[in-house]
Amino acid sequence: METAPAKTLQKRQVIFLAILLFLWETGSEEIRYSMPEETESGSLVANLAKDLDLRVGELATRGARIHYKGNKQLLQLDITTGNLLLYEKLDREVLCRATDPCILHFQLLLENPVQIIQADLQLTDINDHSPEFLERDMLLKIPESVQTGTVFPLKIAQDFDIGSNAVQNYTISPNSHFHVVTHHRGDGRKYPELVLDKALDREKQPELSLTLTALDGGAPPRSGTTTVRIEVVDINDNAPEFLQSVYEVQIPENSPLNSLVVAVSARDLDAGTYGKVAYALFQGDEVTQPFVINEITGEISLKRALDFEATRFYNVEIAATDGGGLSGKCTVAIEVVDVNDNAPELTMSRLISSVPENSPETVVAVFSVSDPDSGENGKMVSTIQNDLPFLLKPTFKNFYSLVTERSLDREERAGYNITITVTDMGTPRLKTEHNITVLVSDVNDNAPTFTQTSYTLWVRENNSPALHIGSVSATDTDAGANAQVTYSLLPPPDPLVPLASLVSINPDNGHLFALTSLDYEALRAFEFHVGATDRGSPALSSQALVRVLVADANDNAPFVLYPLQNASAPCTELVPRAAEPGYLVTKVVAVDGDAGQNAWLSYQLLKATEPGLFGVWAHNGEVRTARLLSERDAPKQRLVVLVKDNGEPPLSASVTLHVLLVDGFSQPYLPAPEAEAAAAAPADPLTVYLVVALASVSSLFLFSVLVFVAVRLCRRGGAASAGRCPVAEGHFPGHLVDVSGTGTLAQSYQYEVGLRGSTGTGEFKCLKPILPTFPLQGTVREIKENSTVRSSFLFN
Ligand SMILES: *[C@@H]1O[C@H](CO)[C@@H](O)[C@H](O)[C@H]1NC(C)=O
Ligand SMILES: *[C@@H]1O[C@H](CO)[C@@H](O)[C@H](O)[C@H]1NC(C)=O
Ligand SMILES: *[C@@H]1O[C@H](CO)[C@@H](O)[C@H](O)[C@H]1NC(C)=O
Ligand SMILES: *[C@@H]1O[C@H](CO)[C@@H](O)[C@H](O)[C@H]1NC(C)=O
Repeated sequence: METAPAKTLQKRQVIFLAILLFLWETGSEEIRYSMPEETESGSLVANLAKDLDLRVGELATRGARIHYKGNKQLLQLDITTGNLLLYEKLDREVLCRATDPCILHFQLLLENPVQIIQADLQLTDINDHSPEFLERDMLLKIPESVQTGTVFPLKIAQDFDIGSNAVQNYTISPNSHFHVVTHHRGDGRKYPELVLDKALDREKQPELSLTLTALDGGAPPRSGTTTVRIEVVDINDNAPEFLQSVYEVQIPENSPLNSLVVAVSARDLDAGTYGKVAYALFQGDEVTQPFVINEITGEISLKRALDFEATRFYNVEIAATDGGGLSGKCTVAIEVVDVNDNAPELTMSRLISSVPENSPETVVAVFSVSDPDSGENGKMVSTIQNDLPFLLKPTFKNFYSLVTERSLDREERAGYNITITVTDMGTPRLKTEHNITVLVSDVNDNAPTFTQTSYTLWVRENNSPALHIGSVSATDTDAGANAQVTYSLLPPPDPLVPLASLVSINPDNGHLFALTSLDYEALRAFEFHVGATDRGSPALSSQALVRVLVADANDNAPFVLYPLQNASAPCTELVPRAAEPGYLVTKVVAVDGDAGQNAWLSYQLLKATEPGLFGVWAHNGEVRTARLLSERDAPKQRLVVLVKDNGEPPLSASVTLHVLLVDGFSQPYLPAPEAEAAAAAPADPLTVYLVVALASVSSLFLFSVLVFVAVRLCRRGGAASAGRCPVAEGHFPGHLVDVSGTGTLAQSYQYEVGLRGSTGTGEFKCLKPILPTFPLQGTVREIKENSTVRSSFLFN
């Protein structure tokens, strides 16, 4: 049914719609009216009477009334006029909601005859509602990676109006990324879609806020808006990027562990885990690398001690990886700076522990020095103590040899402790010390040396055999066998001396032993050489003189030489009766085989026929008359003279003298043995006197010379010769006669005794033939040397 809509509610014009008359004929007519919604209540919808072609008043008479389907009264019928009025304002959206067309059905009931007329009221829409979004804002999360052209459906806006009054178009606030297209859905509603025109970049614009406007088709159109918030979802489109592609660091090699080397830093524009960077060593060679990196902070620190000498440069590649797996790299160039942390090292390649003495320049040690440090830290100087006879000689490169500067003397110094000091030039200086000990080995270059060049040993005579009489000692400054000394007796130059039977020597310690009992009277002194030989090869030796002096013991009693005691006819002295007192009768001559004090003799008169007639001079044995002789004195006198030495204990001998007092002095009284002896002498007394006088003069001269010489010798000799000087020999008793040494009487000695002691011819004659027969064992030389005997006698 095409009806012309009412242009305005106020016109009250009822649009009469074409009525289908065929319905009327079947008894049920239908009429339809149309009017816009929201028309004011009381507005005229139509005049039913007119439309039904009824007279005015017929409606009333026939009891016309309106019947609704529901019980709500919508319309009001004015029976009198037949006008159908709106009972109240009608809202299409309430009555019909989205149903279109919106038709309200009602019936007009007539009685007499009953007639039911079907009628519709169609409410037409007016644009009385605006589009309305259900949400105040919409949130869209769009990954930034989304490609252009991608469509994102948006929620639609509601509009209670229908048809063209419903939402017709959507627009979006101007922006550079999106536009909106409006699509029709099957139910005729429009819905918006957001189309991406330009790629999003979270890093530039993480969020967009757009205003979506919905427009309906009313005139004028109504609109509703909402906000579309677009959150750009991050995707991992940015790799981490280091601030520097290369980091250059210098680090001293002695940096402590865990010290910070450098902190690297990488940036990732992404957000969240995509922007979270983890650092790691890229090489992955974490076992060998001395560095460790903090995964979070990017701080590289030292894990292991560095060694410039081992590695000078490290190129460490660091990777920074974000949560999305993208990574960036950088290189850390680490230069290890040398620090003088290495002391020089010394390597001994050859070392001899001992050097023979006296050898020329010898290489003792060869060594090399090294210092792993570089530059000044690695330059080295080698030294030894400067007071040693050694030199350090550089050979080649870092090799040195230690050589002796001169030949060494073990006896001077047997060993050297050498400290080789190697110092480098770094700061601080580091040094290494190496101690070596060089021993000087012995060479037999020193002969044994006796402690004295000559030894004088005293042995008391009559010693027991095998008596230790003294020692010689020699030292050898060499070492070991070179210093082991063996002592020996050297063969005497005179093969006649039976040295081997006299002494022996202990070869080990130099002790000397007398092998036999020595007899001073037989052998006063002897000397020999001892040798000391070391055991070196070749052996060296030296010798010393040993002089053995036999000390006297009083083992010899005085021996009376004159007068003879065992003569068959005793020697008789003749004394003239006219002799003055003090007349020299005779002289008792005695000797003592001992020496020194043991040979100091004294004489005394032991027994006499006539006491007081004769006296004996104690010190020289002269027998003289003590008074004038008288006739009463018996012609024959017998005297016993005791000769005593000064030994301890003293030994003595006695002698008997026979004196014949005569009135004259004549030869015939001489006894027979003397006559025999006198036969060889000149008979003439004058000649005898001459000889005696001559001898006296010459002997006096000889005495003077000897005395002079002796005095000179004694003065010059001083203490050294004291032992040999009779003057210095201590007090010599005046009454004694020293006849020491006569055990080996020499001719000269006898001669002197004879001259000194006698003035009478008888004595002279008696003396001459009487030679004691002492064993002549000492050497001639020894006797000659023994001036003591002579000198002491002379001074007496
Ligand atoms: C919707 O609005 C846009 C811009 O306002 C316009 O260009 C377009 O033609 C409109 N579409 C319709 C179907 O009216
Ligand atoms: C060398 O050193 C050793 C041991 O320290 C020591 O016994 C010796 O006396 C020293 N020698 C010298 C000559 O200094
Ligand atoms: C080397 O010897 C010196 C002096 O005897 C001593 O002070 C030092 O400690 C020694 N050095 C070594 C390494 O033995
Ligand atoms: C006297 O004695 C000595 C030694 O006692 C002896 O040599 C000498 O022959 C003896 N003379 C006489 C005559 O018996």
